Amino acid sequence: MFIATTSAPVNIACIKYWGKRDTKLILPTNSSLSVTLDQDHLRSTTTSRADASFTKDRLWLNGVEEDIKPGGRMATCIAEMKRLRKELVENVDTSAPTLSTLFVHIASYNNFPTAAGLASSASGFAALTASLAALYALPSPPTELSLIARQGSGSACRSLMGGFVAWNAGTLDSGVDSHAVQIAAETHWPDIHALICVVSDTKKGTSSTSGMQRTVETSPLLQHRIKHVVPQRMKTISEAILAKDFDRFAEITMADSNQFHAVCLDTSPPIFYMNDVSRAIIAVIEEYNRVALLPENGGKRKAAYTYDAGPNAVIYAPAAHIKEIISLIAHFFPQQETFKDPFGLFGPNGIGTG
Ligand code: PMV
Repeated sequence: MFIATTSAPVNIACIKYWGKRDTKLILPTNSSLSVTLDQDHLRSTTTSRADASFTKDRLWLNGVEEDIKPGGRMATCIAEMKRLRKELVENVDTSAPTLSTLFVHIASYNNFPTAAGLASSASGFAALTASLAALYALPSPPTELSLIARQGSGSACRSLMGGFVAWNAGTLDSGVDSHAVQIAAETHWPDIHALICVVSDTKKGTSSTSGMQRTVETSPLLQHRIKHVVPQRMKTISEAILAKDFDRFAEITMADSNQFHAVCLDTSPPIFYMNDVSRAIIAVIEEYNRVALLPENGGKRKAAYTYDAGPNAVIYAPAAHIKEIISLIAHFFPQQETFKDPFGLFGPNGIGTG
């Protein structure tokens, strides 16, 4: 029996991917850029085994077996990884066992609720790709593996690297230039934290796959976004990250989240991912930044919200402001459940003790 276990974290985009120019290869209509969250919090852990006694490829997600549909995304990723093993290891080293011919059993667990509307497919397909790469002892760097994770779920290609990661849309029909690259490592700007506000933990109404297809077919705003907005934003946000300019980073992140949701509204029939609570969180952060932008307060934004294809908010902020932001959110959106304070930010007596 051959076995390997790896894990991959969730990533949250600042410049959103929305739209495919090739649905089979998963080639996007625009480039995107995300922050990979810390391994300790939201991640998928995947174990892959290969054994001569196995009679077919099988996969379990959180203990429940999933159907691997022929020609589907999971089957494609597994087949591509076997192909790489054959090409890169077995063909050069004739003494290597022909692992690529054995069936695999794969078990994957998320350490967060799969239905919570968080990007579980990104961490899931990244962990699947990484565990097969370890099982097959592939010499491939993360950028090369990202070509395969991309074919499982587009955003998964960005979870193979830590820190700030761009997915370059590429121009080739083969997709070989549509891969992820690290803009800055996780050690570059550790001061930035992500606060995840779960507004609703029910499954989203319109899947990203069907939503994107409808947007590509019907939204004129998407065409403007692809040609005239995203290329400049990719450049400016990369510069802001390298310069650790949070004010600029926040401005672009919020504008891009808002344009992504505007594009969803511009789709026919329209898609609504945010709800009233999501919009109220936007209002709170906009007001917080309005005050921060006053010259007497330093004139710089202190937080950035962003929303994926669902109502949950992710708020990026420098460590110094996190406690204040949690207090604000807890004040405006009081919960029945006790607030969990994993970092001990609020001292032994909880929120309000300063
Ligand atoms: O990779 P998918 O199909 O789950 O699409 C993700 C799309 C967004 O989360 C809305 C944006 C992004 O870039 O992650």
